[in-house]
Amino acid sequence: MDHHSAQKILVVGATGFVGPSLVEECLNAGFQVICGVRNLKKAKKQLNFPGIKFVEVDLNIDTDPTVWLDRLRKFGIDGIINNVGIANPFGNQSLENVNVRAPLALFKAAELYQEENRRGGEELEKLRIIQVSTTGVSWPDCDRFDYPRTKKMTDEALSRMKNLNFVIVRPNIIYEPARGHLVLEQIARLPVIFYLGHAGIQPIHCRELAIGITRLLQKPYRASQMILQASGPEVMTWKEVFRQSREALGRPSAFYFRVPLLLGQLFTLLIQQLPDKLLYSLGILSKMDVDTITMMTKGSTGSNHGWLEQTRLHPIRLLETYKAVAQGPEDYAQFLEKIRRDYITYG
Ligand SMILES: NC(=O)c1ccc[n+]([C@@H]2O[C@H](COP(=O)([O-])OP(=O)(O)OC[C@H]3O[C@@H](n4cnc5c(N)ncnc54)[C@H](OP(=O)(O)O)[C@@H]3O)[C@@H](O)[C@H]2O)c1
Repeated sequence: MDHHSAQKILVVGATGFVGPSLVEECLNAGFQVICGVRNLKKAKKQLNFPGIKFVEVDLNIDTDPTVWLDRLRKFGIDGIINNVGIANPFGNQSLENVNVRAPLALFKAAELYQEENRRGGEELEKLRIIQVSTTGVSWPDCDRFDYPRTKKMTDEALSRMKNLNFVIVRPNIIYEPARGHLVLEQIARLPVIFYLGHAGIQPIHCRELAIGITRLLQKPYRASQMILQASGPEVMTWKEVFRQSREALGRPSAFYFRVPLLLGQLFTLLIQQLPDKLLYSLGILSKMDVDTITMMTKGSTGSNHGWLEQTRLHPIRLLETYKAVAQGPEDYAQFLEKIRRDYITYG
């Protein structure tokens, strides 16, 4: 385990799917973690890790840099992961505020914080910033969809902030056994599986993403002012994702039906009305909208070379993951521990 006890990392968006893995892997790497969350009570339940601190944030509101500057000063922050991102306006949220204005206010505050430390004569290394974006930003028609359009606005504005030491990480579809927006173990139980389209995706294991991000936070910093595409190691269709996880979990073969996009869109309108418990039993953990389902059919592929080179990660394969899951919790824990320990040299 590496020890970076002096490095205090603010994880903005520490709850939800990816956030807790980021917090856990930062702790595993020896960082001190300050969790930026919008619901303290819910966060304390979800993030049951010793020694972490909490700060209340709301990116729908916090669009003024001074609010963030106070937080950076209060905790003496050395590094920031902005993991917040919303794909739709559920809960009356503004994508412009949550995905663009508030993160840019945070980054502006980071510039001011660096500046005032320099004036104060402190030999402070630049704040490290990791912005979690999405591969959807690379779609030629990304401006048609509010989610990648707003993520792109932030990526572009951050890329122009030349005083900052940032890395923009663009994950592909993220999965993790027993967690996440798609619970493949649950889907593998279904005798009939519906899927959308034949487009290629490169799903990335949530732990590969989280361990990779903690490595980007370790000194000496390898990558700076860079965009890294965090894609999984193989191009797959959705059908292949379901088939591989099912096979690894030892389930008998199923019937697969490709659903036309229009039907998928009607289905999402229905999904929006269903209770979360029922969605979970169907292997779906989050509410979707018509745009989200359309984006799922678009696919996204591309080289993960830069990501692996900068993080020196051993990429995690979906089939191997679910084979380890099928062996039981101890084997799966060892499987993840090996990823944490392995450093690969590239090039
Ligand atoms: N999941 C994927 O396949 C995928 C793929 C590519 C990129 N990404 C990106 O990865 C990041 C994490 O995604 P995820 O799947 O973990 O999403 P998620 O489960 O929906 O979590 C999003 C996080 O943002 C927080 N959040 C939402 N609105 C907020 C607000 N107004 N103020 C403060 N926090 C707010 C959520 O807090 P609450 O818990 O309080 O809601 C949660 O911590 C996002 O930036 C997303 O765009 C995800």
